[in-house]
Amino acid sequence: MSLETHQFDAVIIGGGGAGLRASLQLAQAGVKVAVLSKVFPTRSHTVAAQGGIAAALGNVAEDNWLWHMYDTIKGSDFLGDQDAIEFMCKNAAKAIIELEHFGMPFDRLDNGKIFQRPFGGMTKNFGETPISRTCAVADRTGHAMLHTLYQRNIQANTQFFVEWFALDLMRDAEGDVLGVIALEIETGEIHIFQAKTTMLATGGAGRIFQASTNAFINTGDGLGMAARAGLPLQDMEFWQFHPTGVLHAGVLITEGVRGEGGYLVNSEGERFMERYAPHAKDLASRDVIARASATEIKAGRGVGKNKDAVYLKLDHLGEALINKRLPGIREIAKTFANVDPIHDPIPVVPTAHYMMGGIPTNLDGQVVLEGEKPVHGLYAVGECACVSVHGANRLGSNSLLDLVVFGKAAGDKMVAEIAQNKVHKPLPIDVADATLARVSRLEKVQGESVVEVGDAMRRAMQTHCGVFRFPNLLSAGVDEIDAVVARAQHIVIKDKSQVFNTARVEALELDNLIEVAVATMHAANNRTESRGAHAREDYSERDDENWLTHSLFYKQNNRLAYKPVRLKPLTVESFEPKKRVY
Ligand code: FUM
Repeated sequence: MSLETHQFDAVIIGGGGAGLRASLQLAQAGVKVAVLSKVFPTRSHTVAAQGGIAAALGNVAEDNWLWHMYDTIKGSDFLGDQDAIEFMCKNAAKAIIELEHFGMPFDRLDNGKIFQRPFGGMTKNFGETPISRTCAVADRTGHAMLHTLYQRNIQANTQFFVEWFALDLMRDAEGDVLGVIALEIETGEIHIFQAKTTMLATGGAGRIFQASTNAFINTGDGLGMAARAGLPLQDMEFWQFHPTGVLHAGVLITEGVRGEGGYLVNSEGERFMERYAPHAKDLASRDVIARASATEIKAGRGVGKNKDAVYLKLDHLGEALINKRLPGIREIAKTFANVDPIHDPIPVVPTAHYMMGGIPTNLDGQVVLEGEKPVHGLYAVGECACVSVHGANRLGSNSLLDLVVFGKAAGDKMVAEIAQNKVHKPLPIDVADATLARVSRLEKVQGESVVEVGDAMRRAMQTHCGVFRFPNLLSAGVDEIDAVVARAQHIVIKDKSQVFNTARVEALELDNLIEVAVATMHAANNRTESRGAHAREDYSERDDENWLTHSLFYKQNNRLAYKPVRLKPLTVESFEPKKRVY
């Protein structure tokens, strides 16, 4: 079949913060760049980021990027690569000033400087006391950032393909990436986007779980494409459960609430974080707080009809502060929990929020193989990538920072690579065959629905791979998720008379979610230690002797390999692994 072909210097898949920061860098350099997005770009999930973006500006109190670096390494439970963390923290202040100059409307202090609030795990002087490091636009920071970047891209002439769903990477016999095959959702037509450089910036995959703060669009599309192209997925066992998702709704209540002075209580009215993290309390790192809440609920000290939540109390902050700094939270609490937080606490539970793992990259955003060899022509940034700055547990407000710092770095590297490649490499004749077969399998008459198979996947992940992990549940989870893989081969779109392309897209998204779920379950079952967000009942301690390693999962034969953590920063001394207490 001959498919319509478009040629660009650079194709970016995903119109969130990471993709748009990279595309801006390319467009401003005069490169012919396309952004493919399955939703209108300003509806990408970056829009839902609430609490802020970290940078050691020192606007509220003295700060230092080295302190930020230390906090991030400690937060990562020493699994983060120290060169990447150094690069991110050192470049943070510059990235914020750049965003400000792009027009991002940061909140201000009385002296006119950018407002900063405390966030979990962010401290002064290597762990002494909490520090205000997180720059914010009320509780809608991601919204402000995404709109700012979109407007700048329009000005720079980035070409957008809106409601286009990327299906698969194209590689040649040498393994070079030559672009992407994509579906135009409106027409159902499949096109080829040939590119000298291709970037995956497809965000997270929180929809592998039943309860998630993630939007329905977060289906791990970039990871699915990478896995099918034979590339590894790194550190997939590490999933962050945000301590404050609204009970039964999953919607995020920002950590900024606790940054502003809110705190968690159990059914006895006890501020229980004082027991679990005597020093940092409600501003400990997220893995610590999620485990504390889950433990309180398990011990029968949960709140509500079923005692399956804890309360987030913020009424003492006062109506004026809530309206000024947390207006979105007040709206969310009213809409999804039926409480007005100026009077009543919000029932919250640990909820799947962020994937620390992803497609392995170097500091320039180039996707790398074992031995750190770059895959020619392929880049990944943002949540779908693993550079790795978050290790086993990300600190809140380091995610928006990751997007802009590495989005820019990757954009610069792509500009350089494009300058050296005057022509596009030829496409192999059969380049789209596997993709066309994958899509056309959905036209069968007999089989299971997307919903049935998707539910089985989500149930398996929620039951077997949650905040606490148990050996028997993990091994049973591997069997269940492998069974889901087999069932997915026989998915059909049931009622063809009612089919819009969205039904086809949901089926193809499920292919991607399943790749992520399989990698997560196998990697979690194999890692016999507890580190950061991976907390096993049978191996309750961190084991640096055997497990100071990144995992690499390959789709073929569900193979796991391991590579060492990069403990050597670029210009400063290493932070040696030590016991992590808050
Ligand atoms: O709590 C929050 O506002 C989330 C921030 C983050 O995940 O970085």
